Amino acid sequence: VRLRRHADVKVLVDDLRVARAIAKEALKRSVEQSVLIEVDIHMKRCGVLPGQPAVELARKVARLKGLSLKGVLGYEGPFFELPNFDERRTAASSALFSLRDTVEMIEQEGIPVDVVSAGSTGTYNIAGEYPKITEVEAGSYVFMDSTYGKLQGLDFRCALTVLATVISRPVRERVVVDAGLKAITQEFGMPSVKGSEGAKLYHLSEEHGTIEVKRKARMNAGDKIELVPSHCCTTVNLHDRYYGIRDDSVEVIYPISARGRLQ
Ligand SMILES: Cc1ncc(COP(=O)(O)O)c(C=O)c1O
Repeated sequence: VRLRRHADVKVLVDDLRVARAIAKEALKRSVEQSVLIEVDIHMKRCGVLPGQPAVELARKVARLKGLSLKGVLGYEGPFFELPNFDERRTAASSALFSLRDTVEMIEQEGIPVDVVSAGSTGTYNIAGEYPKITEVEAGSYVFMDSTYGKLQGLDFRCALTVLATVISRPVRERVVVDAGLKAITQEFGMPSVKGSEGAKLYHLSEEHGTIEVKRKARMNAGDKIELVPSHCCTTVNLHDRYYGIRDDSVEVIYPISARGRLQ
């Protein structure tokens, strides 16, 4: 609510009690807080159920002074388990139909729904085709990662790697790098080693990454290698800055200013 003076940040609500608390705070500060009703169309995470429960919440939230109900958000998720585009489209469509039907039901109550937000990187070109959807929430497409890289039908290539240095090769088949869990996530699986055929990173401890390599592989202490994370989002949050590389030169350094700002 304090940010409202600087930007029109929209807050998701799926609970009337929370909506009332936000409204109270907004009134105290003489601002009108924009909100979206979060509808659970697939993820089974936050979100009121589609259909009647969402309509009832929208009706009550629309009446609260201090809030401005802008619309709804339904995040159908990435569908990593469906690499085939047509299968992903079928699954995502059934989630998106329930969002569309919910929007129509809310509109029938006379409540305008200006914002209908949905879509992930895995479904941006599916959600984006629905006429009712006004905003696609894709985020990971900016960098991609090895998990998204396995999905067919996406137009993005992986831009994000973590640069690691080989610190040891205790035996011919094992290389150890200076990037462990503090540098790269294993959330959706182990990172892959970019451009190194046959190299398999199989373990991450705090500061070490352990890689199985072919006996003949050329990789020695001091060599640099690039690791592709299995999930870009939970890797980015481990670092203070991005190094933008073009033609093997660092062209720009961007601070990751939201890093660690969890409280
Ligand atoms: C609600 C919501 N919208 C959008 C996104 C972005 O999705 P993606 O990074 O798969 O493009 C996320 C990611 O976690 C999310 O939780």
